[in-house]
Amino acid sequence: MFVLGLNGSPRRKGNNDYLLSLFMDEAEKRGCATHTIAAAFESYEPCIGCGYCEKKGLCSIKDDMARDLFSLMRKADVIVLASPVYFYGVPARIKGIIDRIQTLWSRKYRFNLKDPGAEYRKGILLSVGATHGKNLFDGIRLTTRYFFDAMDCTYDRELCYPGIDDRGAIAAHPGVKDDVKRLADKVLTPFQQRKRILFACRENAGRSQMAAGFARQLAGDAYDVISAGSSPAQTINPLAVEAMARKGIDIAFNQPCSMDDALALGNVEIIVTMGCGEACPIIPGCKVVEWDLPDPAEKPLEAVCDIRDEILERVKSLLC
Ligand SMILES: Cc1cc2nc3c(=O)[nH]c(=O)nc-3n(C[C@H](O)[C@H](O)[C@H](O)COP(=O)(O)O)c2cc1C
Repeated sequence: MFVLGLNGSPRRKGNNDYLLSLFMDEAEKRGCATHTIAAAFESYEPCIGCGYCEKKGLCSIKDDMARDLFSLMRKADVIVLASPVYFYGVPARIKGIIDRIQTLWSRKYRFNLKDPGAEYRKGILLSVGATHGKNLFDGIRLTTRYFFDAMDCTYDRELCYPGIDDRGAIAAHPGVKDDVKRLADKVLTPFQQRKRILFACRENAGRSQMAAGFARQLAGDAYDVISAGSSPAQTINPLAVEAMARKGIDIAFNQPCSMDDALALGNVEIIVTMGCGEACPIIPGCKVVEWDLPDPAEKPLEAVCDIRDEILERVKSLLC
């Protein structure tokens, strides 16, 4: 499973840095792959409100955010936002990222596309503020709720601490380590109980991406679904993206993954191969299922849709 952390604080070694690191350490102890983005130290452009995403479903700003962060957001099983309260909202740089999520909002609400993991993905808010007002976290909660909704993950739990101001003050707060450990137990344990299934083809651009999309949608609560290619392409096949979009499933930001990177996650229990031939890995004790499927590369959309339908039936009979 994959946990994405977003740190909204511009203060190095500050309170949110501490909280988020505690959570990510707990996730790693439980075998999760993790990645943390510190918003203040990235050079993402803010949203310019051009409306392009609402018409085209893509961001007009072609930076690392459009290329990499959307993809990390789609890949995550759990997204953790850690942010201080700044004027009852979030600091500017993380707000910049949140506003750029208008692209995912548009894909969901204008194009009716869902993240395949929408039913099981979870969002967590970690926050601190200096004062004790009863409405201290109201603004940040609302922003976070709609941020998570646009990314198709449920606002699951939160840890919000008032009265925390000086750098590192949270570390002296009684019980904070236990709070974070308990939170990690509640959020991550159900994910840890899933079996890992790997869909593998040659380029991880079409067949295995479509299979993984359906598997996440139909059985992602029971299976940690990953996909990879023996010779990964640079980008996913746009016709596979379109074929899945016709079923309401959004795989547009997925990136092809190498077999080595997929296997580094460890412990694959089922591997479904579909055309990687002798380059497919042999893992002792792992159940291997071989699907003889045509390669959608260079085929017209209607042929890709036929392959997609065949994949859907096979995923259903394997996992449902
Ligand atoms: C620009 C700015 C605005 C802030 N606004 C608020 C606020 O509205 N309410 C509050 O209780 N604390 C506010 N704070 C205090 C921070 O929330 C507090 O210092 C927090 O512990 C910082 O967390 P960090 O160390 O992770 O950056 C503000 C701090 C700054 C620098």
